[in-house]
Parts: sequence; C-alpha cells; structure tokens
Amino acid sequence: MNMKQKKPWGGRFTKQTAASVESFTESVSFDWRLCQHDIEGSIAHATMLAKCNLITEKEKVAIIKGLKEVLAEIRSGKFDFKESLEDVHMNIESALIERIGEAGKKLHTARSRNDQIALDLRLWIRDQTHIMIHLLISLQREFVKKGKMFFGLIMPGFTHLQHAQPVLLSHYLLAYVEMLERDITRLRDCLARLSKSPLGACALAGTTLPTDPKFTAKLLGFDGVCENSMDAVSDRDFCAEYTFCLSLIAMHLSRLCEEWIIWCNDEMKYIEISDAYCTGSSIMPQKKNPDVLELIRGKCGRVFGHLTSLLTLLKGLPLSYNRDMQEDKVALFDAADTVHDSLSILAELVANTKFNREQMTAACEKGFIDATALAEYLVKKGVPFRMAHEIVGKIVRECIRVQCKLSDLQLESFRAFSSVIEADVYKVLGVENCIRNYQSYGSTAPGLVKKRIAYWEKKLSKG
Ligand code: ARG
Repeated sequence: MNMKQKKPWGGRFTKQTAASVESFTESVSFDWRLCQHDIEGSIAHATMLAKCNLITEKEKVAIIKGLKEVLAEIRSGKFDFKESLEDVHMNIESALIERIGEAGKKLHTARSRNDQIALDLRLWIRDQTHIMIHLLISLQREFVKKGKMFFGLIMPGFTHLQHAQPVLLSHYLLAYVEMLERDITRLRDCLARLSKSPLGACALAGTTLPTDPKFTAKLLGFDGVCENSMDAVSDRDFCAEYTFCLSLIAMHLSRLCEEWIIWCNDEMKYIEISDAYCTGSSIMPQKKNPDVLELIRGKCGRVFGHLTSLLTLLKGLPLSYNRDMQEDKVALFDAADTVHDSLSILAELVANTKFNREQMTAACEKGFIDATALAEYLVKKGVPFRMAHEIVGKIVRECIRVQCKLSDLQLESFRAFSSVIEADVYKVLGVENCIRNYQSYGSTAPGLVKKRIAYWEKKLSKG
C-alpha cells in the first residue's frame, strides 16, 4: 500500500489523508469486482469524447489500448489495487495515466465517479441477470426431468402441512417451475427498467461540454439515456429491485428446502438425497443430514437482510449522490453471490435426489385424501355443496370410528348417510380414481400435467 499516493482530488488539500480515513472510506476491496464493467464504460466514454472532438482520435486509441492492458493485468492477478486510491474507478484511471501519460488524464472529461458508478452497477446487474436467468432455467430443467421421470407417481398434497388431496408428484415439481418462471420474468422486467444510461449526468447537473450521451448509451447497448441527471446519479432503485427479485428467488428455494428437509426425515422418507449432497454428524455416526437444504433455507434470511439494508440505506437520503451509497455494493454483491450459489447447488441436489414410490404411495392411504372427491360426487348427484361437505364429514367421522378408509365402507353404510350414493361411488374413491377424475384447468389431471411437461420441455430446450 502506498500512503504517499497523490489523490486525483488532492488539489485543494493541504494535508495528507489520515491512514484511518483511507481505510474507512475505501471501497476498492469490494468494488474491484466492477473492473470489467468500469473499463467497458470508459471505452464507450472515450469513444464518445473522440466523436465529439473533446479528445483526438490518437488519444482515444491510446486510452482504449491502455484500458485493455489494465484489464488484462487485473485478470492476470498482477494488478496492485491501492486502498489509498479509494475505489476501482480511481485505481484504473491512475493505472491508465501511469501507462499512457497525458492522454489518460483526459478520460474523466465530462464524467464524474457519480455517473460512472451508476453506470457500472447497471452494467454489472445486467450481466448478472443473464447469469441468474441461466441458473433458474437449469433448475427448471431438473424439475421437469424429474417430473417426466416420475410421471404417474401420486403423493399426498398438503395444506396446513396435513394430508389434503392427492396430487401427481410431477404436478408438485411443476409448481416450482412456474415459480421460477415468474422469477425469470421479474428479472427481465427489472432489466428493462434499468436499461437507461446515466452517463452524461456527470456529478449531478450534467456538463457544459458538447457531449453526446445518446451515442454512449447506444454503444453500451442501453435503450436510452436517463432523462434527469439528478435522478441518474441518485437512483439505486434498480439495486433494490434486483435484490428484491433475488429475495423472491431465495424465498422460493427456501420453501422447497423446508419441504425436502421434512421429506427426508425418518417419518416421511419421501426422498433420498445422494450421500454426495448430504453431510454427517461429528458425534452421531448414523446421521445423514440435509445441510445443503438447510443452508439454502438459512441463506434466504441473509438475502432478505441485504434487501432491508439497501432500502434502509436509501431511506431519507437527500439528492443527489451521497457517500452512503458506496455501501450498496456490499449488500448487492453478497445477495447475488448467495442466490447464485444456492441456485447452482440446488440444481445439482435435485438431479441427485430419488423419490421413494413406496412411501409416497403408502402415505396416500392416510388422511382420507379422497374426501373432497366424495363431496364432489354428491354435488354431481344434485346435493348442494355445503350439504355434501357436511355429509362427507360425518362419513369420515364414521370411518375414524371403525378405523377404515372411505373406500372400505359398504354401500349400505354410505346410503345411511345419503340415499343418492350408488355403487358408482367406488369409481371416485381411492387416490387413483381421484387423480383420474380431476378436470379443471391447471389441476393435477394427468393429461394436463403431461401437456405441461411437454410445454416446459419444449420451452426449456431452447437456449
Ligand atoms: N466509490 C464510490 C461509490 O461506490 C464511487 C463514487 C464516489 N463519488 C464521490 N463523489 N465520492 O459510491
């Protein structure tokens, strides 16, 4: 670390910055991750400066070459990021000046770190979004694969964590595919809103120099330029929004994890996770624990925490740029890393999990999960639903008393509760019949589930 480093903003200062201030205010220890996007932005900015005759063509070429060399040096791990130069922007700029001299000093023409960081974050999130969408698609694929592989397997569907109605395991798995699809579209929406370039806003008010922000925006692949320079440098909505998108992903994953943690316990044994994706106990030799699932569930809290940090960071913050905003990256990066790692390991775990047919099938025999089908049978025979509900409730009570399933009752016993019940009642009882008889759109009817599997297979096979 070079404490004597001359500050790019040092002109009006008469004293050296205190070492404690340097280490308290630095951000390069974490914002170095923006280096590629920072350089991408600087290349576009230099190109614009040359087009507007604010630098010469020769200077532009030297700047771009120099920046590319700096990036290569960073990638090789040889670059010496200096805390005394505060952040990634000033580290790169001074390295450029060291390399190419005078021309490098012109790069910051008509630009401030305020619009520069607002740009870098947008570029970084844009790339991250694509990575995240890719991971979401990979996880969707795993669910669809399992859904196809286990098509026909019936399990109890739960409400209140109690046996409710039978469903196809495939239907359950596809529920997660739908959730993840919403996560993808949410990320795309977020992307559409952040796709405006803040470059040109400079510190907060714009510039008196004849620049062409629209040109820079186009070079960087944005849809346009931020309409208001003060908003452009103050806005971190997109960071909060992206972290909100990540929070919903993490929340979705946590629900699956919770279920599967329960599913692999000794009571349920619905699933068997491969040994490679479980861990043991340091004291109990017999243990095989679903730590990966528990950690994903736990890390969800961490992501929510980052969302809260960001919202709190922005609350009441006056326009325009304030140094508080430097903290946004700590939250943003960790939220993104956490969700990235969770998605990627969960896809592996799903691929390495087996569903236990016997246990799921046996579980369907418990809890009268065909009771609603019986009520609907009565409705088809003209009984108003509320009455049908009451009648079936009483029949269930009788079954509990004599300890049998609904389908074990004799026809006479049924008829004691309702004279509309006939021999065809046995065609609606039992989980197999229930599943076969579902018909509403979006239900677990096998034909519909099969179609949906085919739909997802086709959709997910692209790209
Ligand atoms: N490191 C700063 C951040 O992350 C960059 C912008 C600094 N701007 C300033 N006026 N000090 O927010």
